[in-house]
Amino acid sequence: MNHPCYICGLGSCIPPRVMTNHDLEKLVDTSDEWITTRTGIKERHVLENGVNASDCGLNAARAALDEAGVRPEEVTHIFVATCTPDYLCPSTACVIAGKLGISSGSGRMGNVMCMDFNAACTGFVYGLELARNVIQTHPDAVILLVATEALSRRTNFSDRSICVLFGDAAGAVVLRSDPAGALWELRDVLCSSDGSLNELITIGGGSACQISEGSVVGPEWFISMQGMAVFKHAVRSMTDESLRVLERNGISLDELDLFIPHQANLRIIKAVGERLGIDENKVFANVQHYGNTSAATLPVAMEDARRSGALKPGMKVLLTSFGGGMTWGSALLA
Ligand code: COA
Repeated sequence: MNHPCYICGLGSCIPPRVMTNHDLEKLVDTSDEWITTRTGIKERHVLENGVNASDCGLNAARAALDEAGVRPEEVTHIFVATCTPDYLCPSTACVIAGKLGISSGSGRMGNVMCMDFNAACTGFVYGLELARNVIQTHPDAVILLVATEALSRRTNFSDRSICVLFGDAAGAVVLRSDPAGALWELRDVLCSSDGSLNELITIGGGSACQISEGSVVGPEWFISMQGMAVFKHAVRSMTDESLRVLERNGISLDELDLFIPHQANLRIIKAVGERLGIDENKVFANVQHYGNTSAATLPVAMEDARRSGALKPGMKVLLTSFGGGMTWGSALLA
């Protein structure tokens, strides 16, 4: 990579409405004790009716742009990582651009490229890889990467095996090659997938769901998952990918200041930390408060880690994630 890629703004948005484990006890046959011991989750946040993934993403985007000192009209690319877009068309990126007042011709390089992509929970890491490659061909690019999810819209609140796990949130970063005001340099990214495992996590509602006016929504529209198979794959893939990215950058685990894994389940987070042999004080977790917010977990965790003082600009940070597809990946910041 000839041109460096810097993160110069970070923001998040957490919907105010909270659903605690005790709230879920009233909806399904579950208990705070079961959820806490199996997942670590105590509460999650859900969007109000009429507030969508784009609205939550917009708030996170505004916070990231403010910190970067970037005006919306300076943005050249908007990439949105989501598996719960507002619509199949238009893209959530275009909806956010519209809400930011960005229009054709307002970008520094002329038009603004907007698109969504779906790498499920690995979306933020995939987005970092996308951004640093765009910067190689467009060194003047000012990229807004948003990860936003409205998973509650595809959660069956009568399925106890699913509804306790997920929540809604958004996070965003601004990336560019200009080091002025940089928080971290994006040193490296690795992205992987195994499409033969595509049935382990599914969310319907795409064109494979054939509908006509008045069709009844069936179970295939909601999140479904083979929990234990996903658990095992998650631990293996995040551990291996993290070691690969450290090795190819000649960085030891001891040199890392902070490890931020995908926030799906505290047991998975602990298992990855233990397998890596990393000091548990360097492993960040906030899944207790939000559940799994898919692509949004990493930027939300970065922002929470920063607010808690655990994450500071310039620290060596390893991000890692896994998700439906299956997809997985790791990114190194410094
Ligand atoms: N409350 C109470 N009981 C529940 C429950 C709930 N919310 N959900 C499931 N159960 C029951 C099951 O029905 C099962 O009962 P049975 O033994 O009578 O059939 C029992 O609890 C054990 O279920 P099991 O699936 O074996 O539990 P587990 O230890 O595997 O934990 C998960 C389940 C989902 C928490 C765990 O597999 C997991 O976290 N997997 C990974 C999920 C993930 O990260 N997904 C995101 C991908 S990005």
